[in-house]
Order: sequence, then structure tokens, then C-alpha cells
Amino acid sequence: LPTDDETIAHAASLDELRAKAADCRRCPLWEPATRTVFGEGSRSARLMFVGEQPGDQEDLAGHPFVGPAGRLFDEILARAGIPRDACYITNAVKHFKFTPRGSRRIHQKPDADEMRACLPWLAAERRLVKPQVLVMLGVTAATSVLGRSVTISRERSRAIPLDDGCTGIVTVHPSFLLRVPDADTRARETQRFEEDLRMAWRLLD
Ligand code: URA
Repeated sequence: LPTDDETIAHAASLDELRAKAADCRRCPLWEPATRTVFGEGSRSARLMFVGEQPGDQEDLAGHPFVGPAGRLFDEILARAGIPRDACYITNAVKHFKFTPRGSRRIHQKPDADEMRACLPWLAAERRLVKPQVLVMLGVTAATSVLGRSVTISRERSRAIPLDDGCTGIVTVHPSFLLRVPDADTRARETQRFEEDLRMAWRLLD
């Protein structure tokens, strides 16, 4: 299946896109990874979430946000009163990037070339789903979607008009919340993240 820019841009459905993405060789990440982890959710979702890339568990399961960060994300979504079926959830990069350490696979941030190579998939998901609001989870997602370097603290929690008429919101990645060492700070950051999700939900008409 060809995965050149043109073919991706003209895919007529999410199923077609997903089938093509399964054979993606647009960057070297496909080779050590188990599989492509494509976005999931309703094609009529009004709210889209973009993460960084699948993690270890997502790579094995073939579904986005099913590992520790995904479980926390689910919990906070529920607390914010956002039904999963109103959402489409995907990643800026669709293969797991890692370095092996013993029997473990340690997550590595995707680089600019990998993000660029993967961008047509996200663009096609946005074109087909046409969300009203798109939430960028963390700096990789925000950099990919906004197409410029991004400082989370500067862009966070405000409506950013995107070129397709969709409204963007930048927030932290849920895995950041898992790494905050101090419990009080973690609770506060989690609350703030929940408020960002509530804001995204309120922006839908
Ligand atoms: N982190 C992400 O950014 N995406 C996933 O799918 C899982 C963890």
C-alpha cells in the first residue's frame, strides 16, 4: 500500500487510512516497533486529542492510550464528564520509539524528521473527522499541530484558532502528571489538566 503524501491526503475513510498506515515506512521507526498504532474513535467526534506517540503497552496492544498514561487520562476524562465516544484519540507519531535496556524498552522522544514524516496521517485524520476542538497533549503534539516550537506554559489553556477552523488547546501530557514527584503538586497539576479538558468540552457548541 502506498503511503506517499498524495495517497494519504486522498484517503476517503478512516478505515482506508488505517489500513495504509499499517504498512507505513515513511520513517525508520516502523522497523523496531511492533505495529502502527493508529488513532481511534468516532469519525463524527467533535473533540480530538493528540498525544505524542504510542508507548510500550500501546505498541503491544495496537491501541492508543491504554498504558499507565492512558488509564490516568481515562480517569480524568470521566471526572470531567467527557464521554469517550465524543472523542477521537490519536498521536503525533504513530510508532513507538524506544531504546532497549535489558528486557525493557525505554521511551524516546520522536525527533523533528519523524514528526514531519508522520504529519500527513494526522492531517488526514483531522480532515476526515473534522473536530471542532483539538487538544494537544504535551509539547510533541503541540509542535506537530502548530508547526512551530512551543512552550507549554506560554500556550496552555487558551483557545488557539487553527487554519481549518478548528479550535486548538494546548495542555500537558498525562504522563507528565505521573512523573510529578510531590503529591500536592501532582494533585494540583492533575486538577489543572482536568480544567483544561473541561474548557475543551465547553468550547463545543
Ligand atoms: N502516550 C502517548 O502520547 N500516546 C499514547 O498512545 C500513549 C502514551
